[in-house]
Amino acid sequence: MVNSRLLVVGELNVDLLLNQIQAFPQLGKEIIAEGMDLCLGSSSAIMAANSAAMGVDTTFCGVVGEDYFGDFILRELKRKSVSCRHITRLQHQKTGCTLILNYGQDRANVTYPGAMNALTIHDVPFEKPAVYQHLHVSSLFLQQGILNDIEQLFVNARAAGMTTSLDMQWDPAEQWAFDYARCLPYVDVFMPNESELLALTRTGSISDAIEKIKPYLNTLALKMGKNGSIGICGTQHVTIPAFEVSHFVDAIGAGDSFNAGFIRKYMAGAALEDCLREGNRMGALNTTAAGGTGAFDNLEKINKNIKEYWGTESSLS
Ligand SMILES: Nc1ncnc2c1ncn2[C@@H]1O[C@H](COP(=O)(O)OP(=O)(O)OP(=O)(O)O)[C@@H](O)[C@H]1O
Ligand SMILES: [Mg+2]
Repeated sequence: MVNSRLLVVGELNVDLLLNQIQAFPQLGKEIIAEGMDLCLGSSSAIMAANSAAMGVDTTFCGVVGEDYFGDFILRELKRKSVSCRHITRLQHQKTGCTLILNYGQDRANVTYPGAMNALTIHDVPFEKPAVYQHLHVSSLFLQQGILNDIEQLFVNARAAGMTTSLDMQWDPAEQWAFDYARCLPYVDVFMPNESELLALTRTGSISDAIEKIKPYLNTLALKMGKNGSIGICGTQHVTIPAFEVSHFVDAIGAGDSFNAGFIRKYMAGAALEDCLREGNRMGALNTTAAGGTGAFDNLEKINKNIKEYWGTESSLS
């Protein structure tokens, strides 16, 4: 059995973007958008698509409806070489959709979760011997069917011989119902950003937040936007600065691309510093093109842009 594969468990939705709208929408009125795009949405799908673009053998586990948006998502994931063999299609559910209204530099998002709520622990393949080397879970609070079983999900993954990572993302309900003391011992790499870590631990400073989670932590990869990232593992505590970006477009999905870069290195057994540096590099690369996957078309383009922007040879082949 091949044993260097990534399994991403998560939400799937399309992003329907209406760009350059003339004014902010008002009830009872109609306005015109100058542009429109339909893209693969969702943090988990961006992480999976970009991992595959970096050459990682990647499989997605999720749920979509038997509808046009479901067809579109499967086509996009396959185009990015992500295996869809664990994506379930449900007849009586609609595929999730986020409507994004881009107004100047600002945006308003409305999400219909649809079928993403139907994913449960029973959909996740835990074959033994392990078919997958690593399990990554993202957007925990958008997955109502997984949330209550999250500890068991990681326990099962470990029992099946996988390493594990979690990017819980923001909780739209701001309840932060993630029992970190129980779950983090089964999470090999915990990957929040600063505001998520503060909200989860209900603390006012990063150092207090780290003190709170430390007893339960294996490895922390903390994302800090333009300030790079911090890694903590046992007595190791490293800060890696962000890469300079001279061609900034937007930061949508930078965290997911960081995850893809970090986990690729982690699966290869690299040192914490190298994982963080690769995460930072892919997060920075993400910001040089529109959306979360724009900078990750294929390996050739990724390598060419890394060389052009930072003058270094990429380690991807
Ligand atoms: N403006 C930037 N310049 C350089 N690097 C950046 C920039 N924004 C993000 N990055 C890189 O990407 C990584 C992840 O980005 P960020 O900290 O924004 O994650 P996030 O808040 O989880 O994002 P997301 O909204 O995608 O969930 C950062 O740690 C950094 O290395
Ligand atoms: Mg994030």
